[in-house]
Order: sequence, then structure tokens, then C-alpha cells
Amino acid sequence: MVVENNVALQPYNTFGIVARAQRLVRVRSTDDLLALLADQEVSPGSGTPAFVLGGGSNLVITGDIKQLVIKVEINGRRLVEETAKGWVVEAGAGEDWHDFVRWTLEQGYPGLENLALIPGTVGASPVQNIGAYGVELQDRFSALDAVDLQTGQSFTLNAAQCGFGYRDSVFKHAPAGEKGLGLAGRALITHVRFWLPKSWKAVLGYADLDRRMADSGISSPNAQQIFDWVCAIRRAKLPDPAVLGNAGSFFKNPVVTAEQCRDIIGRDPEIVHYPLPDGSIKLAAGWMIDACGWKGKHVGQAGVYEKQALVLVNRGGAIGSEVMLLAGAIQESVYGRFGIRLEPEPLVV
Ligand code: EPU
Repeated sequence: MVVENNVALQPYNTFGIVARAQRLVRVRSTDDLLALLADQEVSPGSGTPAFVLGGGSNLVITGDIKQLVIKVEINGRRLVEETAKGWVVEAGAGEDWHDFVRWTLEQGYPGLENLALIPGTVGASPVQNIGAYGVELQDRFSALDAVDLQTGQSFTLNAAQCGFGYRDSVFKHAPAGEKGLGLAGRALITHVRFWLPKSWKAVLGYADLDRRMADSGISSPNAQQIFDWVCAIRRAKLPDPAVLGNAGSFFKNPVVTAEQCRDIIGRDPEIVHYPLPDGSIKLAAGWMIDACGWKGKHVGQAGVYEKQALVLVNRGGAIGSEVMLLAGAIQESVYGRFGIRLEPEPLVV
């Protein structure tokens, strides 16, 4: 097992934050991982838990990482099963998410097109139940394989066992946390499988997609056309992490009761909001941050993207504490005006 010491993490987090890992091990297969866990000298099983690094696209690093960093580089994608009703496709956790989505479409398995161009790896996709343009990962998820970092046991979880919620899953909660049986820091996801039904239907009805449909005059787009539109919308609206470091949406869209929402609308009739099936209301955090005048503002080298206030960006050489100072100032001002406490989406370490 090759342990690299004092490794620069800047290339491994899409925010481009400068930090180092004291020790880092690359894992390219489940066998690699099992060998690592059996290795008494480097094993994370005893002492401080390991830190699992995927594509680093949903991460704010606020200092050097002292735990052993396990960098997941498990590749491979395949058709597991085809039935009369659909396809089960699988990818290794280290595969790039967008490349995997493109591959499924090239193979003729539609269903993931609305999730095009989301940065990160396949293994990270269930952790925060990625979602965009009306589709969430949980809508296409079949099962995943993982390894328990403490016991070395392999296990498989179905959707119900992953406890998916809005940008949430069991992998985001501590084992003894408020939500009970969390797997944060405990499980390393090695493979993810998706169920893509042959009875494919376009998921539209999202304002940005409807605009593309109207502009192009295409009334029943196929999966490839939706993929192309989603890529174009995201490229126009969201910064490319290769050019301007960022971690996607920095805060979750808060969900409030109808009563709270009535109060807020009374004061701010323009606020963008979406009623949910259970009667609660989701508020557009980007709109609220924008309304507080944050677009284009910055703290040191951490800034608010000028085309989408929900995205914080690295203007060059930002450190994690600058990002968190900016995030805290935004939370304060949104709380002051709307009485809503925004919750960060990325993991802060
Ligand atoms: N808005 C503003 N000003 C802003 C930003 C947004 O007025 O600066 C308004 C927009 O005009 C729109 C509304 O707020 O009416 C919502 O904005 P948008 O459609 O851009 O979506 P979002 O709610 O900000 C969410 C996801 C994104 C996902 C998009 C599209 C979250 C936290 N974010 O963003 O996911 O791509 O919808 O489905 O749910 C991510 O999680 O990293 C991510 C990028």
C-alpha cells in the first residue's frame, strides 16, 4: 500500500482551496480497500477515522487534514442487467459523474440527462442525493455497494436504506447523530447502480428548460436534446470549476411552513418559492441572497458569483476560513431580513 505524505489537496477540491493531507492513499478497487483496512500500519480502523475523498466537489477545506485521506479512484462502468422493463447500469465510485451520464446516453439508456454536468464523482452522488431540473438521484437509484471502514465488511444498500432526502442521505449523518443510524465517516461507497426504465419520459416543467423548448420549437425533446439543454443552461449560469473554483450551490433552499411563507411574502411579494406536495414551501435561497445585495461581493478572495448568488467562488487563492467568513456574513444578513437561517450544502472540514 503506497502512502503519500504531505500531499497538496488543491487539485482535488473544486473550490481550489490550498490545503494538505498529512497522509493520502489511493484506492483503485474494493480489494485495494480491503488490503488497506487489513494493513495494521496504515489502517484507519483504529484511532482517528479516515477521510474519504471523492471528486471534492462538495467540500470546503478549512485547514490541513490530519486523518488518513482515502482517495477513491475505483473506475469502471457497465450494463448489469437488461429486462423487458429497463436497464440496470453500474459505475465505480471514482468515475466522473458527467462522463458517466454521457456514456449512459451513448449506450442508449436514457434517464440521467437532467443531471448532466454536475461536478463530482459517481460515489459522491448518493451522499448528497444530487439533483437538478426536476430529477434527483434517488429517482433513478437502484442500489450501492460500500465497505464499512471499521469492520472491513462489504454491504449493499437499497434506496430506502440510504435515507435519501433533499441533498441528504445517511452518509451525511454521524453514526450517533440526531438522525440515528448515520454512516458519515464509517462507509466508503465503492459502486453505485441505477435503474433506468425503458418507459422513459422527458422531465420538463422547469422554467429554464421550458424556455429552451419554446426557443427551439421542439415540443417533445429526446434525452440527448435535454442533456444538451441542461449543459447549455448550466454553462450559462454556473461557473466552471476548472476556471473559477466553487462547490456548486453553497446553501440549501430552505423549506418553511405555509404560515411562515405568508409572513415573508407579505413583506417581500417577489420572493421565488415553490409549494411542495406536503403543504410546506421551498424558498429560493439564491433569490434571498441576491435580494440582500450580495451578488459580486467578496471577503478576501472568497466571492459571491455575479450570475448566481447561491454559488460562492474562489477568486484566486482563497482559504477555507475566508469562504466560511463570507458564508457567515451572508447567513446573518439573510436571517436579519427574512428570519431564515440558511444551511450550507457542502461538507466543511
Ligand atoms: N435567483 C435569483 N438570483 C440569484 C439566484 C437565483 O433571483 O442570484 C432566482 C432565480 O431567478 C430562480 C430561483 O432563484 O427564479 C432559483 O434559481 P435557480 O433556478 O438557479 O435554482 P436554485 O434553486 O438556485 C437549485 C439547485 C441547483 C440546481 C438548480 C436547477 C439547490 C441548493 N440548488 O438551484 O443545484 O442545479 O436548482 O435544478 O437545490 C447544487 O446543488 O450544487 C446545484 C447547483
